[in-house]
Amino acid sequence: MALRSRILGCGSYLPENIVTNEELAKTVDTSDEWIVARTGIKQRHIANEGELTSDLARKAALKAIEHAGIDVQDIDLIIMGTTTPDNTFPSTATKIQAQLGLTHGFAMDVQAVCSGFMFALATADNFLKAGQGKTALVIGAETFSRLLDWEDRTTCVLFGDGAGAVILRAEESDGESAGILSTHLHSDGQHQDILMVDGGPSSTQSTGHVRMAGKEVFRHAVVNLAEVVKEALEDNNLTAEDIDWIVPHQANKRILDGTAKKLKVSTDKVIVTVDQHANTSAASIPLALDAAVRDGRIKRGDLLILEAMGGGLTWGSALIRW
Ligand code: UT7
Repeated sequence: MALRSRILGCGSYLPENIVTNEELAKTVDTSDEWIVARTGIKQRHIANEGELTSDLARKAALKAIEHAGIDVQDIDLIIMGTTTPDNTFPSTATKIQAQLGLTHGFAMDVQAVCSGFMFALATADNFLKAGQGKTALVIGAETFSRLLDWEDRTTCVLFGDGAGAVILRAEESDGESAGILSTHLHSDGQHQDILMVDGGPSSTQSTGHVRMAGKEVFRHAVVNLAEVVKEALEDNNLTAEDIDWIVPHQANKRILDGTAKKLKVSTDKVIVTVDQHANTSAASIPLALDAAVRDGRIKRGDLLILEAMGGGLTWGSALIRW
């Protein structure tokens, strides 16, 4: 018998303020046709002034806690994927810890940009499997709009704000039971320039803006995502045919389709929410997961593969028996 992390529940939150492609086209040289054709995005949610990453994260976390049916005091660790913390320090995870009324255990942020939820999930899973805590709150939350150059049409149309969360619990497993079967993480810092923010506390003492060589990132994404899914399947003696649902990072519908095609998985098995909220970086996987769990597509016993790629470059996957 070994410990396995089971997902007890999930939750998500999107800010109320919706900005459609048409609305964006009034302030930047773009069109609904271009955005939909190139990305599948129809709208994004943008946090109001004063609405912080921690506000979105807390709302998603409370929904996950309720969905899981746990007592908030059961939470031993909080791992939060975010690139848009409220402050440079302390970690936004410690703010959430305080807001939830927790004074035991520990909380920390993980920074892997769009792969942030994968890295946070893998970190929490490994702590739980090592016996260093029994229940984990894992969050992906961003106010990515705050990093955008609203005059750069090649990036500002692509991103949005949001948050998602899951509750993990370590349980003894006989190998057949539900939970996280494996996680695989990668990074390759050689490609850091193709997707980055041109500022930071140490370099410019400012926040900076997102800069991206879109075509380059696209090319790496399809290759790396297909590879990291294959790696997960091989490690578990499974094949692409065993997958019930791909729950991908929601960056671009064309990347989702391209990855599914490379894996020879039907696009019907891909959870797509990018049309509703654009690329919300670390929040996008738990947003997509929560949508598909709550609308009944994902059922207990289903095999899910979560996958993401982001700045760094970083990429990873998690194979999960729901
Ligand atoms: O989460 C991971 C992070 N990001 C990603 O995964 C994104 C990866 N990349 C992509 O999704 C795509 O590369 C984009 C959606 C960013 C761009 O799509 P593309 O098919 O690679 O277009 P492109 O960059 O080659 O641009 C084609 C044309 C250009 O005009 P010219 O040079 O052909 O005259 C751009 O200037 O489209 C123009 N363009 C736009 N036109 C209208 C670029 N952005 C826009 C825009 N509206 N917003």
